[in-house]
Amino acid sequence: MTGIGKSFGGVAVLDSVNFAVQPGEVVALLGSNGAGKSTLMKILTGVYSRDSGRIEIDGAEASMATPRDATAHGISFLPQEISVVPDMTVAENICLGAMPARTRLGVAIVDDQAMRLRAQNILSQLGFSHISPRAFAADLTVAERRIVEIARALAADASILVMDEPTASLTEQEAEMIFRIVRRLKEQQTSIVYISHYLKEVFVIADRIEILRDGRNAGSFLPRDTSVATVVEAMLGTVAGEMFAAKTPRTPGETILSAENLSLGKNLRDVSLTVARGEIVGVFGLVGSGVELLGRVIYGAEGARHAGNMQFAGRPFAPKNPADGKRAGIGFVTAERKKDGIIADLSVRENLVAPFQRRFGSALFTSRRRETAQSVAWIKSLGIRTRGPEQEMRTLSGGNQQKVCLARWLDPSVKMLILEEPTRGVDVGARREIYLQLAELARQGLAILVLSSDVEEIAGLADRALVIDRGVIAAEFAHGTDAATLMAAAA
Ligand SMILES: Nc1ncnc2c1ncn2[C@@H]1O[C@H](COP(=O)(O)OP(=O)(O)OP(=O)(O)O)[C@@H](O)[C@H]1O
Ligand SMILES: [Mg+2]
Repeated sequence: MTGIGKSFGGVAVLDSVNFAVQPGEVVALLGSNGAGKSTLMKILTGVYSRDSGRIEIDGAEASMATPRDATAHGISFLPQEISVVPDMTVAENICLGAMPARTRLGVAIVDDQAMRLRAQNILSQLGFSHISPRAFAADLTVAERRIVEIARALAADASILVMDEPTASLTEQEAEMIFRIVRRLKEQQTSIVYISHYLKEVFVIADRIEILRDGRNAGSFLPRDTSVATVVEAMLGTVAGEMFAAKTPRTPGETILSAENLSLGKNLRDVSLTVARGEIVGVFGLVGSGVELLGRVIYGAEGARHAGNMQFAGRPFAPKNPADGKRAGIGFVTAERKKDGIIADLSVRENLVAPFQRRFGSALFTSRRRETAQSVAWIKSLGIRTRGPEQEMRTLSGGNQQKVCLARWLDPSVKMLILEEPTRGVDVGARREIYLQLAELARQGLAILVLSSDVEEIAGLADRALVIDRGVIAAEFAHGTDAATLMAAAA
């Protein structure tokens, strides 16, 4: 790709970008949220058209006007947004675009059996034969949907595979599986473009690192000749500061939440914990450990199905639905922001004010001016990259959507914030920004419960860290415990 340019609504998001990948080469494409990574790859895969520049495949110019063109050139795309069709089966999703056909009475029809077999084959090659080709995608977990997408990309037998944050909602073992696939494809001379915010994995699997900053090329590095710090500096354009706020121990205030013996089926068993004002309590757990249920139970998102007792702000607290949690003064940022958090068709402003719409006036008389002022303030304080509060949410880059989901709970009526995976998909610069904000909010007296499968996040952020494993609190650590110790307690 040479001299690629692209604007949206008059704003340039790519400016004369060059990008190339050789057969059998793994190139990591890195950059901050909104740098233009996904846009560049959507241009390569015919999802977006380019305003300028050339694309050549094997030395010949290619138009790439539609995704079909890209498929014809052997390019397969695993997009950042999960793109399985929920009311189709696993087999249909995998074979999408290349359904095996047979003729019946002279008419071509989809050969269901061949399709299921093909899907089965690919899934078992990947080591996921437990996913049934007949299952509906709607019934799969997020990680399983991701695997179906990967299977689809592989079914196409591509010579170039583009993966946009493939490991963002996967466990470490599942991510390991992706690395295995990448290595195998590399041996078969497949070219791979790998977009990720996890620098560690990039240094493990990439042959070359290409950096975009503000829509321009900002450096090309070989992992063996460079350091994480150099790469981060190229991404941000400045030297990065310390990731976590200096650890001046805070003195927690009175207990705001105390939970005793919370249980939900066999996935959460007798979990007890407290969170005080001005305290950041971290719960580290691998996906499937129960870490993804705890926040939902406390907030009321699991209904009244759980057992156990809670007190919140000095009163008995038994939420039956999320409205109860919110009314009590709990803010909840879910991990599945794409699914539960974002109203894609509305503006950034409407998304920001959604939880506390009433504050800005009644439904009929909402004060647009106050909403806009508040939105502008949030956009500024969290460094959300938008063209302004009226930009449609769906057109924000992935990481900037995350920041909107966090910002909207920073409301004075919130007494405790529950954050699931607060920095998933967020770039290093913004991640640091979010950590500093959380430390500052705690200093102002907010109670914060962070649930995360990122062990360094918990180690760096929490005043007190709990480790959850198989539904049970396995250990509790004081402030300052290192990541390796937490990890060891979880395994
Ligand atoms: N359809 C669109 N309409 C308007 N603006 C868009 C559209 N798609 C992307 N943009 C803008 O282009 C810029 C680059 O976005 P892009 O999604 O390529 O970023 P990214 O590097 O993939 O970031 P992230 O790491 O957050 O995924 C952003 O400012 C985004 O708001
Ligand atoms: Mg992106």
